[in-house]
Amino acid sequence: MPSPRSNATTLINLFQKYNLDVKDLVALSGSHFNGKVRCFSIMFRLYNQSGSGKPDSALDPGFRAELDKLCPLDVDQNKTGNLDATPVIFDNQYFKDLVGGKGFLNSDQTLFTFPQTQGLVRLYSIDQNEFFKAFVEGMLKLGDLQSDQLGEIRKNCRDVVNPSPAPHVLY
Ligand code: HEM
Repeated sequence: MPSPRSNATTLINLFQKYNLDVKDLVALSGSHFNGKVRCFSIMFRLYNQSGSGKPDSALDPGFRAELDKLCPLDVDQNKTGNLDATPVIFDNQYFKDLVGGKGFLNSDQTLFTFPQTQGLVRLYSIDQNEFFKAFVEGMLKLGDLQSDQLGEIRKNCRDVVNPSPAPHVLY
């Protein structure tokens, strides 16, 4: 799993190594339309972005106040929040959140602040069908990365079924 501190350039380079282009990166990051994140993954962003002792300036102030409340400095960092504002709906809210400065992870928000990925984020925020199409293409490419090894179906993504599962390429 790439670091949640990653910026878009790092992510573009990483994905390129697996023949996943900028469009795949942005569309696949849309997987964060659902799921949970631990406070652990955003503490640096809230309190010490890039060693500055300050929060990430790309954060919407209202959203930052919500996150500060969810994850105060003395929080149990296993506490979780939602990755987007509509966590159990497969939709393009994730991209709308990024445009509004309400991306949960630094690696999410950076897709909007970086010029190379900003246009795609904006496009998917206004055109859900474009997002769905690109997501399908990206998922097919992602699936092909493991073609020589058996995968496994898990009831809970964090619970490994096979004791020696196929190595995860990105996840
Ligand atoms: C682009 C680079 C990516 C980064 C830096 C990243 C990072 C993360 C992080 C840090 C978390 C939260 C982990 C935690 O706090 O426990 C997370 C959750 C998640 N990610 Fe990503 N991710 C990326 C791409 C992807 C991709 C490509 C997919 C799927 C195709 C994906 C699907 C998910 C899901 C479903 C969750 C929620 C897991 C849960 O609820 O337990 N992510 N990601």
